[in-house]
Amino acid sequence: MKLIPVKQASDACQELALEMHGLLARAAADQRPVVLGLATGNTMVGLYAALVDLLRGDPVNLAGLTTFNLDEFLGLAPDHERSFQRFMNENLFGPLDLDLARCHFPDGAWAQKDPEAACAAYSQQIQGAGVMDMQLLGIGRNGHMGFNEPGSPANCWTRVVSLHALTRSDAAGEFGSLAAVPETAITMGMADIARAERLRLLAFGSSKAKPLAAALASEPNPEHPLSFLLQHPDFKIWADGAARGQES
Ligand code: GLP
Repeated sequence: MKLIPVKQASDACQELALEMHGLLARAAADQRPVVLGLATGNTMVGLYAALVDLLRGDPVNLAGLTTFNLDEFLGLAPDHERSFQRFMNENLFGPLDLDLARCHFPDGAWAQKDPEAACAAYSQQIQGAGVMDMQLLGIGRNGHMGFNEPGSPANCWTRVVSLHALTRSDAAGEFGSLAAVPETAITMGMADIARAERLRLLAFGSSKAKPLAAALASEPNPEHPLSFLLQHPDFKIWADGAARGQES
């Protein structure tokens, strides 16, 4: 794992967007399919904006791009204001005019009826696409990855999870109230994430300092899901000063 300190979030977003642009351009030139694992959250907004800008300035044929999102709340319609599908449409898929048939999400509606089948199907769909070229990651205030909350084992695959109280209270502002925040979600597991060829994590702001430091200092431990990924052969983490625990 390589920790890349940056002064400000926008520096990290620009560096990672450039790397993504390069990856997409090389794949297009080689007429090779490319598979990205995508994340949501405020952290990703600047990254997606930077990538959209780069692709507008220097267009790449994205016909070979397939995406898999990390997670989704259960019980929200895909066009719900707070659904991750809506977030992706607004921040990336719409601006890039991507073919939505190639942009995949774990199926929350199916998971409510038949969690085992829906979850196994998503892991299989990811594996069927080959090895993901790159998986984007953020980190929750309690250290969750996707919605792999503390307590998640290294060998878990896509599954339905109960959201921790802190995760729900962090989302309450955006949902308008705590009661409106779903209690469950469907998430790629740590094992799905670890299969990706490259892992790229962004951590910005003081609320990420504690979970980041705890995971970086930890042996592989379910209480810090990020700790399972630290031995991955191609893992970069960008962190601004606040996320590295520096006073601003
Ligand atoms: C969300 C997502 C995570 C994300 C995290 C942090 O709920 N499930 O994938 O990394 O919380 O979000 P933010 O970037 O808004 O801090």
